[in-house]
Amino acid sequence: MEDRIVTGELQPEDATVELSLRPTTLKQYIGQHKVKDNLSIFIQAAKMRNEPLDHVLLYGPPGLGKTTMASIIANEMGVQFRSTSGPAIERSGDLAAILSSLEAGDVLFIDEIHRLPHSVEEVLYPAMEDFFLDIVIGTGPSARSVRIDLPPFTLVGATTRAGLLTAPLRDRFGVLSRLEYYEVEDLCAIVERTAEIFDTSITKEASLEIARRSRGTPRIANRLLKRIRDISQVQGETEISFSTTQVALSMLQVDDIGLDDVDHKLLKGIIDGFQGGPVGLDTIAATVGEESQTIEDVYEPYLLQIGFIQRTPRGRVATYKAYEHFGIEIPERK
Ligand code: ADE
Repeated sequence: MEDRIVTGELQPEDATVELSLRPTTLKQYIGQHKVKDNLSIFIQAAKMRNEPLDHVLLYGPPGLGKTTMASIIANEMGVQFRSTSGPAIERSGDLAAILSSLEAGDVLFIDEIHRLPHSVEEVLYPAMEDFFLDIVIGTGPSARSVRIDLPPFTLVGATTRAGLLTAPLRDRFGVLSRLEYYEVEDLCAIVERTAEIFDTSITKEASLEIARRSRGTPRIANRLLKRIRDISQVQGETEISFSTTQVALSMLQVDDIGLDDVDHKLLKGIIDGFQGGPVGLDTIAATVGEESQTIEDVYEPYLLQIGFIQRTPRGRVATYKAYEHFGIEIPERK
């Protein structure tokens, strides 16, 4: 994927900074009020019963705080947080090693859980349901199955789309929480919180502008803030101003509503190349030069959310809103 400042996907640079920016309690976590309210009750109840929390599936577009929420769950439960990802667990033995090293009540976070190999997923079912592993030792006639008991634990899985999970895996989660794009006022509070952690002053107008142009995504807001802070600092400002924010955002090729050059390529591709669609996902991906999966998981959800494209059985269609945004006259519908 090309280097895109407004992508929701985790970039290497984010990794270390995000850790220090991450809130550690539900109270510190801004936005996602419904998810927080629910989890807060389930956590309290589990603690009152002295039981581990039920398994939790967090789903939603990248950059909305799934990993952060998982680590908060561990912190609020007062247990260890162990983290891995679907693609990192190649064999069932890898999973067995991780699971048997857990302590009672621990949170095991599996990011991109939809990418777990099938053979590994099957080992996970009894582990989630009854806290045991069935391991086959040896091959051929001497092969035998050994049952290993596990400490009770909480699996927190994260995925960009719940629909990508197999039904048996999805069914084993007691709590399913969808993270939504953030409201502008919540993003604004996040930008202000991050600026404070950076020991940087920013005007209300500037933080609001960043919030408004961050596509509902804290990871994007924080990344834009970092770049704008650089530009503001080089200009000799002691406080990030609205005017510098505007100039910086246009330098970063972020348009008035937060869309960037890839969004533009995608939308213009449909409008100019295919008379507004319908056009298939693979064709769009080829036009933009991205993988179909990336388009579907990273770029498309926000454009769907703001009503710039629609999914139809015959492919994607650009809506009148997209035409209006580019100031292109809407053609007669075929
Ligand atoms: N930083 C990134 N996302 C955040 C959130 N939801 N709450 C507080 N700080 C954040």
